[in-house]
Amino acid sequence: MAAHHRKPLVSDRPAIVGGKPVRESLLPFNEPCLDARDLKQVEAVLRSGRLAAGDKVRELEERFAALVGVRYAMAVASGTAALHAACYAAGISRGEEVISTPLAFSGFANAPLYLSARLVFADVGEYDLNISPVEIERNLTEGTCAIVASHFAGHPCDLESIGAIARRHGLAVVEDATSALGASYRGKTVGSFATAAAFSFHPEATITAGAGGMVTTDDEDTYRWLKLFCNQGIVRDRAKLVNAKEGPWHYEVQELGYDYRPTEIQAALALSQLEKLPSFLKRRREIAARYNDAFCQSPLMEIPYEDPDKEDAWNLYVLKLNPESLRADRMHIFLALQAEGVEVGVHYLPVYLHPLHGWLGDPNVCTLGQDPPCPRAETIYRRLITLPLYPRMSDADILDVITAVNKVLTFYSR
Ligand SMILES: Cc1ncc(COP(=O)(O)O)c(C=O)c1O
Repeated sequence: MAAHHRKPLVSDRPAIVGGKPVRESLLPFNEPCLDARDLKQVEAVLRSGRLAAGDKVRELEERFAALVGVRYAMAVASGTAALHAACYAAGISRGEEVISTPLAFSGFANAPLYLSARLVFADVGEYDLNISPVEIERNLTEGTCAIVASHFAGHPCDLESIGAIARRHGLAVVEDATSALGASYRGKTVGSFATAAAFSFHPEATITAGAGGMVTTDDEDTYRWLKLFCNQGIVRDRAKLVNAKEGPWHYEVQELGYDYRPTEIQAALALSQLEKLPSFLKRRREIAARYNDAFCQSPLMEIPYEDPDKEDAWNLYVLKLNPESLRADRMHIFLALQAEGVEVGVHYLPVYLHPLHGWLGDPNVCTLGQDPPCPRAETIYRRLITLPLYPRMSDADILDVITAVNKVLTFYSR
């Protein structure tokens, strides 16, 4: 399918570093990978007239559960809904403490807050940038009820150690597994370790449904709560009705639930994308390997950490700049790369530094400017820069990114 929203030409903008910019047109930071088959699947649903609660949603749930290796998968309207439902079904509730990672998508920490739980941020590991099991242990209290983890850039977090801590202390584990769709830890697929795992099908995720998400669990009880929560709290099972005598049409609202169900249109697109997941992951891994080869010897940056026990999904390619070897900060490098025609990103501002968390006034998160709860995350954040990485990138695009990074960093080297 033709690129539908190529960014404007940049050749009229002078390169900050000097000389001709590496690219004439801006290489987008991310683009979904859609093709004619995706269109056909969506069109078929629209023509069928069945837009909700049909076969596509059911089929997507079955295929997704099989892919992750769990008994249950529940499709939802967004990744945020998936996280909210996963936290609810895992039993997180008012006043309880939830230990969470600071280097994650900004909305990641909202789900426990929707449930009026208290957030406690545990610092990340120096290399993998995932929540550190040692830091989780350091932050445990009598009030801790759950660990909510994510997988930085698609690199699985230390799921076995986290699971062991959870079992020892009777805690639930929730994963935001969005970035690690298709990743594995010691041969086991990410999304199958936690009490409940959430996935987003946002356009920047590995597969997209435009909007949409999924929750996976291996636990029957957790699945029952998920279904109730995402379907307006409605109960139809006659054996469970309070007033079954009302009539055969009768159903009851027995919980304050939400309308979090996806449409058949979303499910059809997600199903079509899911079929291409192996090829998407293969291309992502190829691109990451090309970047790694190009940058691994440079003293100006550190390439992403890899662990032989973990198969990475490479949702993002995040470089750590080496400030001692550079005479410019991340801001200059970011702007210079954009001027070379390469759109880059920054992932992530530590979640608790978003003003909301300060304004909430919780002593665990209201630490702006003093005694940061996660000093390692704050220091490392200032070094991070994310390069474009998505299956639609051509070999020439990859080469342009490598050329631009080498050009800019060499210019700014000490
Ligand atoms: C890692 C991660 N998790 C969750 C979400 C939220 O998903 P959604 O936008 O589908 O609500 C996003 C969205 O960008 C994300 O990047």
